[in-house]
Amino acid sequence: MHKKRIAIVTGAAEGIGQASVKELQSIGCHVVQLDIKFDSFTINDDPNKTLYKVDVTKEDHVKQTFKEVFDQFGRIDILINAVGGSLHSKKIEEIEECDWNSNFDLNLKSAFYCTKFAVPYMKQTKWGRIVNISAVAGRTSTFFGGADFASAKAALIGFTRQCGFELASFGITVNAIAPGLTLTDRVRKMWDDYSEEDRNFIMERVPIGRPSTVNEQAKAISFLCSDDASYVCGAVLDINGAMFVG
Ligand SMILES: NC(=O)c1ccc[n+]([C@@H]2O[C@H](COP(=O)([O-])OP(=O)(O)OC[C@H]3O[C@@H](n4cnc5c(N)ncnc54)[C@H](O)[C@@H]3O)[C@@H](O)[C@H]2O)c1
Repeated sequence: MHKKRIAIVTGAAEGIGQASVKELQSIGCHVVQLDIKFDSFTINDDPNKTLYKVDVTKEDHVKQTFKEVFDQFGRIDILINAVGGSLHSKKIEEIEECDWNSNFDLNLKSAFYCTKFAVPYMKQTKWGRIVNISAVAGRTSTFFGGADFASAKAALIGFTRQCGFELASFGITVNAIAPGLTLTDRVRKMWDDYSEEDRNFIMERVPIGRPSTVNEQAKAISFLCSDDASYVCGAVLDINGAMFVG
């Protein structure tokens, strides 16, 4: 990467978001980290003002934060929409409206708000990289969530395609990755609680025969943010060990 890019990563405190922060830092980006979990003490102690406690499902929070980042750094080049996750594994007849709404808020609306408020700044420099974190659930089916989660992740792919189509001529690429089972702290706890029989059952359905590491996801994200990926736009990269091979 030639210049010091300003990157924003949502869901940066843990998991794939956190691994993406480290990966982007390692290739020379200045990374602004957004997470609902950051506490005021950590934020106030941050000399570079790179940590923001934000709920990215709230439009006014996102708008204000992106303005502050732009005012401070004068540009926003990269956006990684990593906030998300499956909130339950209910069967379709058990899913309540509130489940549906919270899955869509977390997995889709968050990316919508962040993209909406990043794009005007990216258009100013005619360069941008946006990476949305979908899931294998949005490509095929999942053992780790309900129909609301799978629908939100599939919708995020539709959102990626349309934004890619709309923004390509402004030098802004928009892509998604579709991870399979990735051993973040959150998922590892869940995974360890499964019986050996259930773990084997699931692993037999993962052609590559093992879960992904967070770094395997973060490397792909970093590629999509690089100059080398300048002609990749509106695409979905399946990083799920051949669980989806469509
Ligand atoms: N881990 C997996 O197996 C897996 C598989 C497929 C897709 N994904 C996707 O990858 C992305 C990251 O997943 P992960 O497993 O690394 O998650 P994680 O739970 O490890 O981390 C998510 C982070 O997002 C933050 N967050 C949650 N709600 C927020 C909000 N409203 N505003 C700001 N921050 C918020 C959390 O505090 C946390 O730090 C998600 O979109 C998830 O759906 C994960």
